[in-house]
Amino acid sequence: MASVVLLCTSIAALVSAVAGELLTAEQFANAVPGHLELDPEFRKLHPNIPGPHEDVDPFIVGGIESTPHSRPYQVAVYSPITATGFSFCGGSLINARTVITAAHCVDRRVGNLQVFMGAHNMPPGTAPNVIGRTSGDVVIHEGWNRAILLHDIAIVRFETPVPLSANITPILLPRDATHDYLGNTTLVSGWGRPSDSINAISPVLREVTSWVISNYACRMAYLGTVQDSHICISGAHGRGTCQGDSGGPLVINGVLIGVVSFGSAFGCEVGWPSAMARVTSYLDWISQNQATV
Ligand SMILES: *[C@@H]1O[C@H](CO)[C@@H](O)[C@H](O)[C@H]1NC(C)=O
Repeated sequence: MASVVLLCTSIAALVSAVAGELLTAEQFANAVPGHLELDPEFRKLHPNIPGPHEDVDPFIVGGIESTPHSRPYQVAVYSPITATGFSFCGGSLINARTVITAAHCVDRRVGNLQVFMGAHNMPPGTAPNVIGRTSGDVVIHEGWNRAILLHDIAIVRFETPVPLSANITPILLPRDATHDYLGNTTLVSGWGRPSDSINAISPVLREVTSWVISNYACRMAYLGTVQDSHICISGAHGRGTCQGDSGGPLVINGVLIGVVSFGSAFGCEVGWPSAMARVTSYLDWISQNQATV
C-alpha cells in the first residue's frame, strides 16, 4: 500500500514539474512572439509588406478573452532561439501526439521545443490541468522558404500521447480539400498582442472573428506573395488581424482551416489582411508526417 501511495505522489510531483518548470519565470517573461515581421531579414526580403506600427495603442486590441478552455486544441509553443531565450508561438493539437504550427516558429530553434496544452493563462503557472511537453521531433515542410513565404507549416510530435480531456482535445482537419471557404466566418485565437507591444504575451487566451477573403484580394495587398496554398482573412475594422500568434489556429466551424503565417504583426488600424497556410493544401503532407496514436 505504502509503495502505491508513494508512486502516486511522485507522479503528481512529476506532472506539476512538467507543467510549471519547463521554463524559468525569467524565460517565460522574456519570450518574444515569433512573428515573421519582427525578423530584420524580413524587412529586406519583403520591403513591400508593411511592418509593425509603433503608434498603436497597446491596449486597444481586437477580440475578446476566450472562455477558459473553450478552445481545447490551442497550444503554446516556446522555441529556444538563443542559449536562454525563447520565441513564442501558437499551435493546434491535431491528435494526442501531434501539433501543427508555423514553420517560421521552429526553423531557428537551437534546442527542444516546450509545448503547453490545456492552458488559459500564459505562462501556465501551476494550473492543474496544463500539460507541458518537450519535443525535438519537428518536421518542417520541405518547401518552406522565408524569402517567398510559402509552405509555412510544421509538425511537432510527442513520443507519448498527451492525456486528452475536456481541456485538451484535438481539432478536426478538413475532410474535403475542394472548399475555398470564401466569406466564411473565421476564429483565430492566441496569446498574441498587437505589434507595438511586441515583447509582451497576453496573460490570457484571446480570440477574434473575421472572414475569409479571396486570394485575389489578398494578392493585391501582398503584391504577388499570396499563392493558392495561402488563405487570407479580412483585416477590415482593424482589429481582426492583430491578435493571432504565428502558428496558431484559423478555425471555421470547429475545423482547422489555416495556420497563422504573416500579417498578424501589423498595426491594428492598418486593416491589412492576415495570411495563413491553407490546411486543405497540406492534408497529404499532414497525414504522412503526423504521429500515429
Ligand atoms: C461557408 O459559407 C457558405 C456560404 O454561406 C456556407 O454554405 C457553408 O456552409 C460555409 N461553410 C462552413 C464550413 O462554415
